[in-house]
Amino acid sequence: MYKARIAILISGSGTNMAALLYASKHGDCPYEVALVASNNPDAGGLKIAQAEGIATFAHSHKGMERADHDAVMDTAIRDAGADYIVLAGYMRILSDGFVHGWEGRMLNIHPSLLPKYKGLDTHKRALEAGDIHGGASVHLVTPELDDGPVLGQVEVTIVDGDTPETLAERVKYAEHQLYPRVVSEYVGREFDADWLETKVSELALALPQTHARPSHGSPGWRVGTEKTGKYFAHFSTQHHGSDAIGVLVKTGGMDELETLCEEQPEIYWKPAFYGASGWIGLRLNRSGVDWEHVTEWLERSWRGVAPKKLTKLMDVAEGF
Ligand code: GRF
Repeated sequence: MYKARIAILISGSGTNMAALLYASKHGDCPYEVALVASNNPDAGGLKIAQAEGIATFAHSHKGMERADHDAVMDTAIRDAGADYIVLAGYMRILSDGFVHGWEGRMLNIHPSLLPKYKGLDTHKRALEAGDIHGGASVHLVTPELDDGPVLGQVEVTIVDGDTPETLAERVKYAEHQLYPRVVSEYVGREFDADWLETKVSELALALPQTHARPSHGSPGWRVGTEKTGKYFAHFSTQHHGSDAIGVLVKTGGMDELETLCEEQPEIYWKPAFYGASGWIGLRLNRSGVDWEHVTEWLERSWRGVAPKKLTKLMDVAEGF
């Protein structure tokens, strides 16, 4: 089973990091911890990670420009081969460039029920407002502080006599359950056949005059009318002993097919039966799929069988 590689960034005690790390020891966990990194060389969490045999990296931000420090962290994270960044009490505001470089691949946990109480002193603010619940949220990181799409939340009931400290402690317990679960769901979806099929279907049906029609029990997409349409893509889920989940598209011929499979076996495979007539498999259950590339292949395959008047319209549209 392929595991997504996550880099966890901390500044302090790192209890959420520890929760993520211990969860990753379970064989079914869809991620592994590639690196624990910090802007604080004394962060307690670094020792826990080291004791568990996880690679660590620390570089103080003191005396550095924000973007320069982010660049140092970015290099360490990429060198560790991380697919995702998981912020766990990383007390740094991130530069826009760094955030853009990890768009859709950086998660954070925040100790409030977002969109309430962005920023600091969340528990104090919840108590002062007379809220019934505090809680925690996991969200994608966008340049705006604590503002990205929320992926998961947990409510923690406020009890009589709660202080910001007692509430914070209970919220931490909740965070330690929530974070590994949400990270697993999020990074795991890229290897999930249903999620991949939905994504391919959206791209295929975005092309002109297309419709879905299963073929031999597998999803497929055709161009043209319901009556005379032709297939330009098929979805393949671990067929005939292959572990690949992916989309089959039409190549220019056997030479191209064989060359691609030989040169980039991590991306392409020659599918049983279909391969003999020039269809190639694009593997999607792997990390870092380039969806632009998938889109280009779908369009090319579509062009190969679409009626001339449609491809001409497409040429005109692309000319603008
Ligand atoms: C957590 O409360 C988290 O919500 C916030 O920072 C704190 C980190 O705590 N972003 P720890 O270092 O994981 O114990």
